[in-house]
Amino acid sequence: MSGAQLYDTIGATYTVTRRTEPRIAAQVWAALGDARTVLNVGAGTGSYEPSDRDVTAVEPSAVMRAQRPAGAAPCVAAAAESLPFEDQSFDAAMAFATLHHWQDPIAGLREMRRVARRVVVFTHDTSETGWRGRFWLTRDYLPEIADLLVGRPSLTELASAIGARTEPVLIPWDCADGFFEAHWRRPEAYLDDHVRRGVSVWARVGLEPEQRAVHSLREDLVSGRWAECNRDLVALDAAELGLRLLIA
Ligand SMILES: C[S@@+](CC[C@H](N)C(=O)[O-])C[C@H]1O[C@@H](n2cnc3c(N)ncnc32)[C@H](O)[C@@H]1O
Repeated sequence: MSGAQLYDTIGATYTVTRRTEPRIAAQVWAALGDARTVLNVGAGTGSYEPSDRDVTAVEPSAVMRAQRPAGAAPCVAAAAESLPFEDQSFDAAMAFATLHHWQDPIAGLREMRRVARRVVVFTHDTSETGWRGRFWLTRDYLPEIADLLVGRPSLTELASAIGARTEPVLIPWDCADGFFEAHWRRPEAYLDDHVRRGVSVWARVGLEPEQRAVHSLREDLVSGRWAECNRDLVALDAAELGLRLLIA
C-alpha cells in the first residue's frame, strides 16, 4: 500500500490528536531562513505551514487534503517523488513527518532539492543508537518496528543524497502534536485508542503486535516496572529521541 493509500484509509481522524507543536514549528521555520516562497511536501492538514510566507502545499491523499482548514495554503495533489514544478521554483521546500511514507525517499529528497534552493525535512534517525534504541516504546514494547525499516535508507544516506546537515529536534514533555514519540513522558497516553489511531505506526505493525504492546505497557504501568525502568525521564523537560531536521 502506498503512503497516500494508507492515509486515505487511516487519515479521517487525523486532527483529533495531530496539530502544530509551536516549539518544534519555531525550529522548522528558523531553518527556512529568509525564504519567502515555501513548498510543503506531504503537507497533510498543514500543521507546520508558516502563516507569514507564501506557501504551496503538496499532498497525495484526498482524505488528508479534505481536512485542510478553510483559508489554508493552496494544495496540489502530487507525491514527493514527482513534484509538478519547474526547477528552482521555490525559495525553500519543507517536509514534516512524511518522508518515512515515501516509496522512494531519496528520489523525493532530490525532487525537493531540484525545485527549491533550500530544503528542510523533519524525520528520524532509525538506527539502534538513535530512535529505536533510545525510545522505550520502540525498544521495550514494539520491536516489530524493525520490520518496517527493512530496505529504508539510513539518516546518513538521506542526508548525503542532498548534502544536508542534521540538527537534533528535542521533544517537549508536553508536546502538543501527538506523533509517535510525543508522549515519551506520558506513557498512559499510549493506552488511549485515539492517540494510537493518530499515528500510522500502529496500523502498519498490525493488530496483534499493537495489542501485545499495549497490554504489556499497561501491566508495567500498574506494577511500577515502567516507572522503575524509566525513572530518569521524569526529571526531563525535553527528550532527544533521534528526531532530526535535515537542512540543505
Ligand atoms: C504523518 S502525515 C504528516 C502530515 C503533515 N506533514 C503534518 O505534519 O501534520 C504523513 C503525510 O504524508 C503523506 N504522504 C504519503 N506518501 C507520500 C508521498 N509519496 N509524497 C508526499 N506525501 C506523502 C500522507 O498522505 C500524509 O498526509
